[in-house]
Amino acid sequence: MLDAWVAVDGSAVLGHLVLARPGEALALAVGLPSQRLVSVARLFVSAGARRRGVAARLLDKAIDVAEADGLRPVLEVEAGATAAINLYERAGWRYVGSSAADWITADGRVAQMHSYIAPSGDQT
Ligand SMILES: CC(C)(COP(=O)(O)OP(=O)(O)OC[C@H]1O[C@@H](n2cnc3c(N)ncnc32)[C@H](O)[C@@H]1OP(=O)(O)O)[C@@H](O)C(=O)NCCC(=O)NCCS
Repeated sequence: MLDAWVAVDGSAVLGHLVLARPGEALALAVGLPSQRLVSVARLFVSAGARRRGVAARLLDKAIDVAEADGLRPVLEVEAGATAAINLYERAGWRYVGSSAADWITADGRVAQMHSYIAPSGDQT
């Protein structure tokens, strides 16, 4: 883990997000060296706080910090996580490919991980 944020409202924890070093497989998927990347992970918003922009704000903060460090954010999301996929695509993240994971989803499928890269002004 490189960095982490927790969204709070008073004493209530609303959500969290982590920046971490990406694995080589994700770097290969996006076609950039892993040293130039940072991985968004552990994004979760508590059920009672959803659709209020908490995830979007956590994501914006993480992207700002990553870019200030000269790093390009990337992430993996399971194909069934439609809320998260909508969130990333609405924010301009670019889909770069999919691969099967080594775990089974709660509904009995082999997990399919979609890889995304954050939008960048410099087109790298
Ligand atoms: C995905 C998740 C983090 C979104 O958190 P959130 O704070 O509700 O998201 P936001 O309010 O910032 O939503 C921003 C946009 O994302 C999309 N979105 C978020 N939740 C959505 C849903 N349930 N269905 C469809 N689109 C959704 C919408 O485009 C939304 O904009 P809008 O509300 O103006 O339509 C939350 O649903 C969650 O914790 N899910 C379980 C864990 C998970 O899937 N984490 C991601 C792992 S990669």
